Amino acid sequence: IPVASFDYVVFGATGDLTRRKLLPALYYRFRDGQIPGSSRIIGASRSELSTEAFRDRAREALREFIPPSHIDEAALGSFLDHLYYVAVDALGTDGWDELKALLDERPDQVRPFYLATSPDLYGAICRNIERCGLVGANTRVVLEKPIGKDLKSARAINDAVGAVFPEGQIFRIDHYLGKETVQNLLALRFANTIFERLWNADVIDHVQITVGETVGVEGRGGYYDTSGALRDMVQNHLLQLLCLTAMESPLSLDANSVRDEKLKVLRALKPITPAEVQAVTVRGQYAAGAVAGKSVPSYQADLGGETQSRTETFVALKLEVRSARWAGVPFYLRTGKRLPSKHSEIVVQFRASPFSIFPDEAFGREPNRLVIRLQPEEGMKLEVMTKDPGPGGMRLRPTDLDISFEETFKQRYPDAYERLLMDVVRGNATLFMRRDEVEAAWEWADKLLQAWSDRPEPPRPYAAGSWGPTAAIALIERDGRTWHEEIR
Ligand code: BG6
Repeated sequence: IPVASFDYVVFGATGDLTRRKLLPALYYRFRDGQIPGSSRIIGASRSELSTEAFRDRAREALREFIPPSHIDEAALGSFLDHLYYVAVDALGTDGWDELKALLDERPDQVRPFYLATSPDLYGAICRNIERCGLVGANTRVVLEKPIGKDLKSARAINDAVGAVFPEGQIFRIDHYLGKETVQNLLALRFANTIFERLWNADVIDHVQITVGETVGVEGRGGYYDTSGALRDMVQNHLLQLLCLTAMESPLSLDANSVRDEKLKVLRALKPITPAEVQAVTVRGQYAAGAVAGKSVPSYQADLGGETQSRTETFVALKLEVRSARWAGVPFYLRTGKRLPSKHSEIVVQFRASPFSIFPDEAFGREPNRLVIRLQPEEGMKLEVMTKDPGPGGMRLRPTDLDISFEETFKQRYPDAYERLLMDVVRGNATLFMRRDEVEAAWEWADKLLQAWSDRPEPPRPYAAGSWGPTAAIALIERDGRTWHEEIR
């Protein structure tokens, strides 16, 4: 279904995110007929570039980031005709008149401003948008993460943007919310009677959330070294996954209903105190090693030499959600760069049955487990006990009820940005973060960052290509549990 005609203005048009994610996502939506012909994508950044040069760059980016079999040459050619470019100084006044003149040609289009720049510029860009009289009912502003590096800076950004745009026109991206399998969590939990009734501390022993990446810092060291895994991944993506897993049923799919419930989970997260930080958190940093059979350098070397950086590239945490539903159920989270595989999943481990008619030697007490695979092979698996076939008596073994979404639906899984960019045009904010959510997540993260900074220990080294420091294994094994073995 086509969306309304739009003029998408992308600030940071020559940057990495635009090349890798935004242009490919818009190309796919165009190829699949969702973008009306009068829509335009207007690149804006400081570099002096002609529209022609911008189109050439875009063509190269699309060829680099889209598999050749997905490129329809005719669609690619006409997609590029929808691209425009204006050199704009975010902080000053240069270029704004040209941008305004271009936008004024089509005053009725939906007008999203996508800010894929450093967050330091968000306030200035919004003030310029206002100064040029470009804020109207059809205008929206899209903010990329990171929204700040702590609560104070997040509030400053939210205040600056909020001084120009009402909350309903602000779309804060957490691209994990646009991933198909993450949205599927809502379907799994709230469209299936069998799960929601069991989704609580009576039946669930613990939950694991793993987001593993094989990449290192890939030329983003300047940003990453001031951030680290807690700010880069946990404060946003992992906490959002936790929220969708732990929240109560929203009243509807309406944006505020969903966000109200996620907010309650963030507020129920128990802050980690300095006294317990050693027992329930692990910080790691990758040393040289091998990923997929290829030697890779250490984090310090990736930064360009033996620096003394203490930034963590791996985090493991044990969290508690203080609510009647989850009392006593630990949530174990881990994420890191240079792990053995790109693999993200949520594991819901059910309790062992309190009584079994099967003798121990029949392995009759293996508890059920639900594994929701977010990437790369989207799907889900429920481990159930079955009888071993054959005449050997009543011997049991765990067997998988396994769905691979790709095999089941036999269609390409759209990238998260495809959904999110179109939701902005539709004005649907369900998969975007509200101001209070972002700030509640920072409030929790700030306490942990403070507790870490009060301790002198550097992050623990781990070999690139391993699942993080051994302390991360100890973190869960101390509780008599193990990380889901398939990806250990
Ligand atoms: C980004 C982080 O938000 O998410 C990156 O800044 C990380 O460091 C990326 O690599 C992971 O996203 P995905 O979709 O590849 O899992």
